[in-house]
Amino acid sequence: MRTQVAIIGGGPSGLLLSQLLHRAGIDSVVLERKTRDYVLSRIRAGVLEQGFVGLMRQAGVAERMDRESFIHDGTLIANGNEQFRVDFVKHTGKPVVVYGQTEVTRDLYDARAASDGKIVFNAEAVEIHGADSDAPYLTYSVDGSEQRLECDFVAGCDGFHGVSRQSIPANVRRDYEKVYPFGWLGILSETPPADDELIYSKSERGFALCSMRNANLSRYYVQCSLSDSVENWSDAAFWDELRRRIPEAVAEKLITGPSIEKSIAPLRSFVTEPMRWGRLFLCGDAAHIVPPTGAKGLNTAASDIHYLFQGLKAQYHDTEAEGLDLYSERALLRIWKAERFSWWMTNLLHRFPDQPEFDLKMQQAEINFLRDNDAAQKVMAENYVGLPF
Ligand code: APR
Ligand code: PHB
Repeated sequence: MRTQVAIIGGGPSGLLLSQLLHRAGIDSVVLERKTRDYVLSRIRAGVLEQGFVGLMRQAGVAERMDRESFIHDGTLIANGNEQFRVDFVKHTGKPVVVYGQTEVTRDLYDARAASDGKIVFNAEAVEIHGADSDAPYLTYSVDGSEQRLECDFVAGCDGFHGVSRQSIPANVRRDYEKVYPFGWLGILSETPPADDELIYSKSERGFALCSMRNANLSRYYVQCSLSDSVENWSDAAFWDELRRRIPEAVAEKLITGPSIEKSIAPLRSFVTEPMRWGRLFLCGDAAHIVPPTGAKGLNTAASDIHYLFQGLKAQYHDTEAEGLDLYSERALLRIWKAERFSWWMTNLLHRFPDQPEFDLKMQQAEINFLRDNDAAQKVMAENYVGLPF
């Protein structure tokens, strides 16, 4: 089989790139090691920057998002029993769009199917060959049958545990990583959200977040130890701890119910440089990871896809290679700013083990400054709604 762009990974990054390329008349094949249902079973955040929303429109898959998403003009920050609001529209003129990543992925799968997009599910043992040559190709197997995919370019959209990043030689690649000393215990419940907007809460007992998927599907998180496990947390224990970490006025009206999903996720910051090696381009989680505090995961994938799509379009339509040659530099410039913001929000709101008294005072001063200072809120708002591509 032959294609112009071979895409490894059928998550949001790979699917969005494939759909954008299709709309530009550029052929691609997506190799996904799982099934469509498995990919759609993943529970992930869905706070979309305007840049991501714009790409969904450009890809022609924004209709259901426009119908079913929530528009949030700001967010609430709780500090102990007090809370304040950061107004995105006042400071940036832009809101954020709340629409679950599962729904984004579903819409992209439906769009690819509607245009007979080539997606190979259960693609095993994908290997990249000749990425640093003019004739790269992939090998993989499906149902035990060995396959070969010739291509012009390879997009590594296979996430943090994929094969793409590892295909760049260790002496070419430089990894930067920070692992945080805590995790997030998250639950999904078929209950109304705690408020109309998200509540990021800093408390002496640790961080908590009140989020949502729709008017009757809420997503909550409490910071937990890395050695913790979901078996230690009954639903009642979770709700009790959440109530202790949010303002009393919010806790009093919290509507609880049985969890329909419960999991613990670690927090890390990670970036690999460069994001290109020959004709292999890394996108999304394959190249970088952020702690979920700033809701940047999907949104950093969006700017990678934007830069790579523009480069490939120029390559095929104008025979101008600059876009591809500048891909890694352009993508990394915006990614490091998203890494900084996610790191800043994580440090601002979480309780670190054995935190020195002075550091606690600095944390308190930082959140008080954010509460009291318009310029500080503008900086947070500009980063949260998304820096320009
Ligand atoms: N071969 C083929 N497919 C693979 C391989 C492989 N060796 N390794 C991983 N995959 C697939 C995974 O099954 C997954 O469907 O690649 C896809 C990668 O998708 P994601 O991990 O969702 O990464 P990405 O598409 O970049 O989306 C980033 O996902 O993890 C969240 O917070 C993150 O919101 C962000 C978004
Ligand atoms: C979520 O709804 O899962 C969510 C929202 C915002 C975040 C992280 C997670 O910062």
